[in-house]
Amino acid sequence: MPLFPNIRHRRLRLNERVRRLVRENHLSVDDLIYPVFATYGRGVRREVPSMPGVYNLSIDMLLKELKVVEELGIPGILVFGVPEEKDEAGSGAYDPDGIVQQAVCAIKKSFPDLLVITDVCLCEYTSHGHCGLIKEQTVDNDSTLELIAETALSHARAGADMVAPSDMMDGRVAAIRAKLDAGGYADIPIMAYSAKYASAYYGPFREAAGSTPRFGNRKTYQMDPANGDEAIRETAQDIEEGADIVMVKPALAYMDIIRRINDRFGYPLAAYNVSGEYSMVKAAAKLGWIDERRVVLETLTGFKRAGADIIITYHALEVARWLREA
Ligand code: PBG
Ligand code: ZN
Repeated sequence: MPLFPNIRHRRLRLNERVRRLVRENHLSVDDLIYPVFATYGRGVRREVPSMPGVYNLSIDMLLKELKVVEELGIPGILVFGVPEEKDEAGSGAYDPDGIVQQAVCAIKKSFPDLLVITDVCLCEYTSHGHCGLIKEQTVDNDSTLELIAETALSHARAGADMVAPSDMMDGRVAAIRAKLDAGGYADIPIMAYSAKYASAYYGPFREAAGSTPRFGNRKTYQMDPANGDEAIRETAQDIEEGADIVMVKPALAYMDIIRRINDRFGYPLAAYNVSGEYSMVKAAAKLGWIDERRVVLETLTGFKRAGADIIITYHALEVARWLREA
């Protein structure tokens, strides 16, 4: 008489050794990109109220923080700028002396081996807070493209290793690629925010970057959260236009999109674990309602299982430390 049942999945869960042996996905420090917010001034280290542990840093303070990033072995950072002044055309975004350009230049001097990726958008620099130029109350696609491309080129000139357009204008990857190539930067890769949704999860980021739109919202250029097939079309176009890495953003509520894009394109894929996802975990952890470390590691492992190769996360420093201890 055979014992019933003859298939027992629990045999391979019996202890950590055997679990390690059959584990399908692994979270590694190599997967991480850490977002940072560079601002003007000196000695500035201003914590973002809705993002405990995340700071607006003047360049001198940012360099100190990056020592930690490098020591932890995190491969790269994603640089955002918090400028002193804004205008209608977002000219701080493509100013050769702008905050990101200055920060990148200083970072590459001190940390030549750190992968420096820049977010390419206008919203932190426009007085109205939108990601492009306003014409007749709407964000105008084609006139914005030129400025987005100019911004990317100025970042490359400052020494950026990679550019990451987050504006969601149609044709931006092609416009950036053409501009970079013509400027002698054919080897600078583009990480495109391909499936970027109009999400409430960006709330804390907009506090961090001071980029909340003054009127309306971003629904006319960012994707409708109800759409999945459209994410495939957006991503296909970005790849066609020359994107080297594609991205899904946010990550947690869009794990199906991560999986679909990985299945469909098998292309280097980043998941952006956005500000609101971070803040929710921090808030619950502060209240003692969840085990922060276990929740974060489980969530990030979930992104890997869904098909992400790269995880952009504000948790990166802590995760790198936890992985080291494990
Ligand atoms: C700028 C940009 C945003 C984020 C990344 N780049 C905000 C937005 O689109 O409003 C969000 C990042 C986050 O929430 O962590 N276009
Ligand atoms: Zn923007």
